Amino acid sequence: MEVNREYFAGKTAVVTGAASGIGLALIEELLASGSEKVVVADFNQANLEKHVNRLKGPYPGKVKGILCNVTLEENVKAMIAGAVEFFGGRIDLLINNAGAGFGGFFVKPSNLGAMEKLGYREQTNADWEKAFALNFYGALYGCRAAIPLMQKQGGGQIVNIISGIAFYNMPYQSMYAATKAALNAMTLSLRAEFWDEQIKISSATPGTTATAIWDGLEMPEGIQTPQQSAQRILAGVAVNKRIIFGDDGDVSGSKNCFNDDLQEIPDQYLLNIARQRRSGKMAV
Ligand SMILES: NC(=O)c1ccc[n+]([C@@H]2O[C@H](COP(=O)([O-])OP(=O)(O)OC[C@H]3O[C@@H](n4cnc5c(N)ncnc54)[C@H](O)[C@@H]3O)[C@@H](O)[C@H]2O)c1
Repeated sequence: MEVNREYFAGKTAVVTGAASGIGLALIEELLASGSEKVVVADFNQANLEKHVNRLKGPYPGKVKGILCNVTLEENVKAMIAGAVEFFGGRIDLLINNAGAGFGGFFVKPSNLGAMEKLGYREQTNADWEKAFALNFYGALYGCRAAIPLMQKQGGGQIVNIISGIAFYNMPYQSMYAATKAALNAMTLSLRAEFWDEQIKISSATPGTTATAIWDGLEMPEGIQTPQQSAQRILAGVAVNKRIIFGDDGDVSGSKNCFNDDLQEIPDQYLLNIARQRRSGKMAV
């Protein structure tokens, strides 16, 4: 998908979870579009240093890495403050991308099948809290730190990375689905809330994308590259789409998932996924 590079030229941007996968590809696409300065925020120090040092070569003075655990609000506040200082006072775009997949059992199934292959186990309250801390609160803290600065500067843009699972709620991923559906709901409330203050706020699904999120799992056929995902997301960002769909599967799923006349489509699809997963295949 074609990125409108001019839209990003001269802008400053922060991407969280950007030392790998889709976040890193977003940073690379922003730099290729002529963004003035970018901050790569992540809690994986080794990957952060590796990629920031690599990018500083072709883009001198434009890239800063900030170590940040998005589950800690003080870390996020300090990271945003550090970014604004590096940017010289203005933050144009924040992409809250840090997140993880979290498959597992809501309670242990009586028909375990071959699911041991998928490494699933019963998810405890502590697991649920960790998942929300990362996938939901991490983005909430980012919005809460950036919005007041954007209000003061007269506008800005925030994109929260959700997942198609926010609509097409996959079996054995109830926890992941719940975090991303909650994030989507918060995002779209904020979109209307801050629209008249010229702060553009969107949700974006990356689509099924070959990243470390699939580590240890068989990747589905036709999976796209992080660059393809990043380009499609940025194409949507440039036109301030309400929900950016990262691949065609997410577009078609979004059309029938809540349609009263078409309920059999998601039911059949998701039932088939449940059965395939019980046979040990990481179907999506
Ligand atoms: N890859 C896919 O198929 C897919 C599909 C739908 C949604 N997503 C979403 O896309 C986003 C990016 O995932 P990805 O596929 O690029 O995976 P990834 O594992 O390659 O990247 C995630 C990054 O987030 C960082 N991170 C994790 N916990 C963090 C924390 N507490 N603080 C700061 N950084 C942290 C990791 O170090 C890593 O660099 C996630 O929100 C994920 O849920 C991915």
